[in-house]
Amino acid sequence: MPEIILPKASEIGRSTTSEVILSAKDLVKHYPIKTGILRRTTGHVKAVDGVSFDLHKGETLGIVGESGCGKSTLGRLLVRLEAPTDGSVEFEGADMAKASGRELRALRRNIQIVFQDPYTSLNPRMTVGDIVGEPLDIHPDVTPKGGRRKRVQELLDLVGLNPEHINRYPHQFSGGQRQRIGIARGIALDPKVLICDEPVSALDVSVQAQVVNLMEKLQDELGLAYVFIAHDLSVVRHISDRVGVMYLGKLAELGEEDEVYDRPTHPYTQALLSAVPVPDPTLRGKREHIVLQGDVPSPANPPAGCRFHTRCWKAQERCRTDVPELILRPDGRGEHFSACHYAEPRAVVDTVDVTDVEPDERFADTDVRDPATIAAVEGQPGMDGPVQDAEGLVEETPEQRAADMSSLTMHDEGHPGKVEDPRP
Ligand SMILES: Nc1ncnc2c1ncn2[C@@H]1O[C@H](COP(=O)(O)OP(=O)(O)OP(=O)(O)O)[C@@H](O)[C@H]1O
Ligand code: SF4
Ligand SMILES: [Mg+2]
Repeated sequence: MPEIILPKASEIGRSTTSEVILSAKDLVKHYPIKTGILRRTTGHVKAVDGVSFDLHKGETLGIVGESGCGKSTLGRLLVRLEAPTDGSVEFEGADMAKASGRELRALRRNIQIVFQDPYTSLNPRMTVGDIVGEPLDIHPDVTPKGGRRKRVQELLDLVGLNPEHINRYPHQFSGGQRQRIGIARGIALDPKVLICDEPVSALDVSVQAQVVNLMEKLQDELGLAYVFIAHDLSVVRHISDRVGVMYLGKLAELGEEDEVYDRPTHPYTQALLSAVPVPDPTLRGKREHIVLQGDVPSPANPPAGCRFHTRCWKAQERCRTDVPELILRPDGRGEHFSACHYAEPRAVVDTVDVTDVEPDERFADTDVRDPATIAAVEGQPGMDGPVQDAEGLVEETPEQRAADMSSLTMHDEGHPGKVEDPRP
């Protein structure tokens, strides 16, 4: 067996090719568990527990993993919505924790986030213009004086919405359109990095495809780098250049999209991939389905050694005590990062890279509308602009709008509305 030279912890998961724009170094986030009347800290939820990776200019890094493995927490740490318990995030080489004042504002401007649920992440009482324009108010130096409305309309146009709908409220848009509003807000400050936390998970499959296509278009036009967090492995494969697989707060595997999907070396990745539904009926029943034993352990008390050893069919004595490092390990063709002492490639699924299939049912440009419908809808009064993917988009009378707004105010007590920015 060849000797494996372990890199320093801060070098784990990093690569030296192309320009690095964002760098996570040994990121840790532990949430205290407080109990009793005195609210004593009796333990910690280890949501993120030592994650390192580089994000390159213009690339998409997908992050996948089961619910509760720490994906969203990682996303919030990257935009510094939360401070890490340990470790650091560097943007273009500058440590965000050490920046203050104007420098920190400039850094934050460059890393924006889009949230999962287009129904709760937009404030129902704000117009689309105010939602998309809010970041411009916080950073007035970005837009020339008096240019706010024009910029907001440009942004709406860029994400495929009618700029004339600037005064509408979120409830007047469909789910896909709302997510477009969230994306317009995310790119308002012309960031270099967009963290996307399950941006399409709440949408129907056809609308998912539209939003994914839009994100790819924006990436090409604006040179954005994405961290794309999702649990749908097919969507992640489609959009990502590289993919990281998380398990209980740590990265289990990290590599190019085809390395991770075609030659996974970590048993957890292999199990995850074996559960992906196969669209081709002739393949059903032929591929292996790895059923994992037991539940995901609590992140408050993760297993010692390899965190996956309580569910791993390959676990040996060593796995109970020695933490496997995320290092380059052979994958049958080359090597990529894997955190398993006994890493070996296993092609679990006859996965089809959806990017190579033409035409692809799932990701084809579904924005194409029936010309007869367009003619009919555009002929209606008040619909003089281009029509969008407008399921549920109905012109309201001023009376209806007033009634809607008063019912909103009456019934949405406790609505999460705008996501508060807890940053100082
Ligand atoms: N503010 C918080 N306080 C305490 N625990 C938290 C907090 N935020 C997240 N956690 C815990 O941290 C762990 C990771 O949560 P996180 O939301 O990052 O997971 P996730 O991978 O995004 O899950 P999902 O796929 O369901 O969105 C969970 O056990 C969660 O309960
Ligand atoms: S290190 Fe051991 S327990 Fe962990 S994934 Fe590899 S074989 Fe399984
Ligand atoms: Mg999440």
